[in-house]
Amino acid sequence: GLWLDYTKIKDKVVLEGYRSQLQGIYLEEGGATLKVIGEELTMGLGTLLDTNLKFNALGGDGNMLIVSKYMNLPKNLTEKMEVDDLKKEGYIIKNVDMEGGSHVVITARDDIGLLYGTFHFLRLLQMHKPLKNLEIVESPKVDIRMLNHWDNLDRTIERGYSGFSIWNWQTLPDYIDQRYIDYARANASVGINGTAVTSVNANALILTPHYLEKVKALADVFRPYGLKVYLTARFSAPIEIGGLKTADPLDAKVIQWWKNKADEIYSIIPDFGGFLVKANSEGQPGPQNYGRTHLDGANLLADALAPHNGVVMWRAFVYSEHDPTDRAKQAYNEFVPDDGKYRENVLIQVKNGPIDFQPREPFHPMFGAMPNTPLMMEFQITKEYLGFATHLVYLPKLFEEVLKSDTYRKGKGSLVAKVIDGSLNHKKLTGMAGVSNIGTDFNWTGHPFGQADWYGFGRLAWNPYMDSKDIADEWLRCTFTNDEHFVGPVKKMMMESREAVVNYMDPLGLHHIFDTGHHYGPGPWVDNLSRPEWNPVYYHKADSLGIGFDRTKTGSDALFQYAPEVQKMFTDLETCPEEYLLWFHHVPWDYRLKNGRTLWDGLGIKYQKGVDQVREMIATWEQMKPYVDDLRYKQVTMLLNIQLKEAKWWRDACMLYFQTFSKMDFPKEMEAPE
Ligand code: GCU
Repeated sequence: GLWLDYTKIKDKVVLEGYRSQLQGIYLEEGGATLKVIGEELTMGLGTLLDTNLKFNALGGDGNMLIVSKYMNLPKNLTEKMEVDDLKKEGYIIKNVDMEGGSHVVITARDDIGLLYGTFHFLRLLQMHKPLKNLEIVESPKVDIRMLNHWDNLDRTIERGYSGFSIWNWQTLPDYIDQRYIDYARANASVGINGTAVTSVNANALILTPHYLEKVKALADVFRPYGLKVYLTARFSAPIEIGGLKTADPLDAKVIQWWKNKADEIYSIIPDFGGFLVKANSEGQPGPQNYGRTHLDGANLLADALAPHNGVVMWRAFVYSEHDPTDRAKQAYNEFVPDDGKYRENVLIQVKNGPIDFQPREPFHPMFGAMPNTPLMMEFQITKEYLGFATHLVYLPKLFEEVLKSDTYRKGKGSLVAKVIDGSLNHKKLTGMAGVSNIGTDFNWTGHPFGQADWYGFGRLAWNPYMDSKDIADEWLRCTFTNDEHFVGPVKKMMMESREAVVNYMDPLGLHHIFDTGHHYGPGPWVDNLSRPEWNPVYYHKADSLGIGFDRTKTGSDALFQYAPEVQKMFTDLETCPEEYLLWFHHVPWDYRLKNGRTLWDGLGIKYQKGVDQVREMIATWEQMKPYVDDLRYKQVTMLLNIQLKEAKWWRDACMLYFQTFSKMDFPKEMEAPE
């Protein structure tokens, strides 16, 4: 059901109000998208209102829901509507009183806008909102709003914690699992309009005719829901599946091969979105294998896709052992000098922070630093570094923090969100990607609250200025209940959960101290991996004097990659927010924090606070039993208990290990290690 579980409205007053407002539906006739709108309304209103609403012609008596594109509405309706602000995929929901009835009109410029408007309308009912004085005008602020699946063709999922891949390649293209349809519905309901179905590390097989037929079947299912398919393009594909001797981006045969491949894909999937590429990163092949650059590689693929209006999403997640000083600096150094030289259909896809999806990172310094190139955001919805699908951590809070960070690239107020929606530098092409947390688990995302991260990602991709608290409110009401006794406390719990995980895993700017490989649980002591930048000791740099990574001029100087105002703020210990202290500074154990306590005490207090916060989450959830079905109540209870056990594990492991350097006693606020 996800958040589309349209259960019958129990509140009699609300129900009767809706029934009298919605006495019939007028739905414009049309193609596949109009058909799915009809199905969604039949199902949604049918169950919410427990009635079978009739689809009628316009002009009869009664209060109607009218769903029609603007250009097809009768004049006496359009003259009451202002559509100047309505963009592609956008919609208006408005009350219009006319002879014969008082109507709710959903209108748009295109079919997909009508579908998005329909989902918004259904959400109003799910949230028991009044249907009076509606003046909703919504258009997406970001063009490409997509999921990145890290799914392999054997159905394992890299960093997937909710079962196997929902793509059953064996039975495709002939068998269409209902999950594919529900997946498309769920995405459309939050405005997600793209999906890359294979992992950035996947092999090139997905580009062979055998698999393209299967991808076509998925694309056909997704199309009515406005969801475009993208594929990962392994840079060495011309060798692996094309029989060429090289994948050099400047080689004429390679150029022709990619052109032919793009033509072939579009002949099978005419609205194919484009390629997502991981190149010269973590051992993946790329243009640098041939002495070329990311620019050469990205432009090669862009030229192949351009005749079909496809785009290339070239990832900036690059680091290597070759820069021993600081892995955080490499992406900026490799991409920023080529700003403005990328083809118009290239987006550089940048992770939210400069390392790798940590519980907290400062924003990536590339945001705002490439004014002449579209940069798209890559968030991770699957919780690789935040306790997998076991810990309850509400990610939209993290996403919001990043989007609202100020790059200062064009003075105060140059928010990351403005880079992403293109408004900072008037970009034509914009995008946001989220690494999916979806799998075959009964509840899709492993942890029942993981659904909120998928939901919230979609809402923020639509509007990166949204408040994560409002998103939590929507999700809770649609997924569980409108009962304020539930919504209030659980929303509070969700909003605090992100800071809790930072406190019990990576307080005060610590990062990447996870046990290596799987990234679950603490491993700050690990120092024996083949590449230095894979070892946690590389990041915390604890020694007898102190702890933290000096990224100021006396250290790696990664700070030079930020705008001067940001550099200044992070460099100066007086102004550096304590959340980022150990990210940017190596600080003595007896350094005094703003509250007067030593750094060592402060660390212990934060770790303890994280544990206490999980205890509070448990206490909150225990009160929720009357409002939740037994299954989800039990599941969340069990998971929270594991979370508590593991929060203590983090606290104890990290503090005992760091104590071998600090040689100081634990602060009195900290419980004795278990
Ligand atoms: C992380 C993650 C990998 C992933 C990589 C990427 O390093 O651990 O599994 O492949 O990010 O984003 O490419």
